[in-house]
Amino acid sequence: MNFAALQRPAALVVAVALAGSTLVGCSTMPAKPSAGNQANPVSTNALNGRVPLVAPGEMDSDLAFFSSGPYGGVWVVGLPSMRILREIPVFEARAGYGWGFDENSKKLLQGTMPDATSVSWGDTHHPMLSKTGGKYDGKYLYINDLANSRIAKIDLKLFKTVDIRRIPNIQGVHGIGVDADTRYVFATGEYEIPNVLNPKANEDNKFRTAVTVMDKDLNVVAQVPVAYGNTDIMGTTVDGKYVFTTVYNTENGTTMRDMVKSDKDAVLFINVAKMEEALKAGKFTELNGVKLVDPDFPGLTTYVPVGKNPHGVDPDPTGKYMVASGKLSPTVSVIDLETLKVVGEAEVGAGPLHSSFDNKGNVYTGTFLDSTVVKWNLKEVVEGKPKETYIKQVEPAHYSPGHMMADGGGTKDAGGRWLIVPNKFAKDRFVNVGADYPENQQLFDISGDKMRLIADMPILPEPHDLQIAPASLFKDAVQAYNAQEAAQHEHGVAATKDGETTIERHGTHVEVHTTAKRSEYGFKDLKLKKGDHVTIYVTSLETTKDITHGFALPDYGINKPINPGETIRVDFVADKVGTYWAYCTWFCSALHLEMRSRIIVEE
Ligand code: CUA
Repeated sequence: MNFAALQRPAALVVAVALAGSTLVGCSTMPAKPSAGNQANPVSTNALNGRVPLVAPGEMDSDLAFFSSGPYGGVWVVGLPSMRILREIPVFEARAGYGWGFDENSKKLLQGTMPDATSVSWGDTHHPMLSKTGGKYDGKYLYINDLANSRIAKIDLKLFKTVDIRRIPNIQGVHGIGVDADTRYVFATGEYEIPNVLNPKANEDNKFRTAVTVMDKDLNVVAQVPVAYGNTDIMGTTVDGKYVFTTVYNTENGTTMRDMVKSDKDAVLFINVAKMEEALKAGKFTELNGVKLVDPDFPGLTTYVPVGKNPHGVDPDPTGKYMVASGKLSPTVSVIDLETLKVVGEAEVGAGPLHSSFDNKGNVYTGTFLDSTVVKWNLKEVVEGKPKETYIKQVEPAHYSPGHMMADGGGTKDAGGRWLIVPNKFAKDRFVNVGADYPENQQLFDISGDKMRLIADMPILPEPHDLQIAPASLFKDAVQAYNAQEAAQHEHGVAATKDGETTIERHGTHVEVHTTAKRSEYGFKDLKLKKGDHVTIYVTSLETTKDITHGFALPDYGINKPINPGETIRVDFVADKVGTYWAYCTWFCSALHLEMRSRIIVEE
């Protein structure tokens, strides 16, 4: 496609966008109480989080998985209480979960960094739940690290990161997508590196980045080179036919001003079946072991022009349409998935970034500059109805919403109950705690005729996107490990039984298999010689849920929780002479402080 035709100036919209970046809160339509969320009745007094939506001792009905941005992981939040239930560390070490303190997690963190000596950190943006039949299946959560071009897989039986991969040939892994049956996981590369990825270089056709296609275990299957612009947010159709991504900067500029010159950019659709055909037909070149699919393969790629510098792309749950939010254009484009043509434009206000759907044909779009959530009807936009008709409600957001996510977002199974709006600014919403402000997530009840703000949730800086699914989908998550299975699976060893601690020496390698129970380890003293390489496996003998022990050896940088039935492995070189206490870091019993053993290192 020739983007020269699209390169027209659009002075008006650019001027508004550039000048208006500090505008907030100009909605005029006040909130009206709705009938309330039938699935989860909430008190009519429960406004702005002042009254808990879930009483003490009661359970949340849904879980939200937030990316934690520069915290490099995932926060799991209960809905509607908006309480943080746990963190899942991913790209960054976290002592509280022992992540980064054993060999396996160290290898995943450090081994995937571009420079082995740098500290592993991540910038997580887009959590994506795995799907079966176009609906969340509760099995896995995938998440990107924009900073270091990595992607991770979290097993939701364990609520634990099980794999991290660095994606070759691209820079800035931003949007990710999971198809209808988790056959493929897709990722965009945001930053152009034309000199690396340039199989067909000439002046008019420089491949700048690529869409990466992986299998469900994150093995790279192929990459589809992208000719124009930068790819950022990504989605998949609910039938899995297409993966699509917004393409901004079709000007191929390198400065912000160059990137906003033309009034049109595009949404790129990749036909997944055509990609498979191209691979089968050998229509690819190889770069660093990755198959670069010929992007000119017939039917593989379609660039659909939309408003300038588009951002969010979201599939409609019925599978007929997808919508692209305009960012610098005050519109959301509706694209028909049969024809791949724009069939409607919803005028929603300044700075639309993301949209999400309910189960009644409505779309909720956040406007960053107007600072609102706009509810509009998709069918009425396609039918060409006037704005006064298709706009159903405009509510203030506090402030400047980024992503929007309703329950079941991106699937066939839009729930129509909850909408979470992660805002980029909190401003005057909370008491002053210094120059680093909390972020503000807002929860809307969308089950009634009118959406209704029911809670604010201050959270650490700064989450980004999320997925919402019923808590019942995760009811089989382990609460206690099967000791034998877990040890074999994780470490390829047998779990140690009560009273069967072994300490074996093979030259300078000392291998210990031991246990933890309330309130002692299976060994009293471990005598070592300076320079010994030590491996310790500790099996928890606990079967009662919520009885977690720890194994910390601070002088050797070790701290690992041991959940019921779990076997952990820690490794260290005993290079410091002296007596060091290994102690339990999780409060497990009244004798928790007494739970310790000596490690004695002799000359
Ligand atoms: Cu075991 Cu504290």
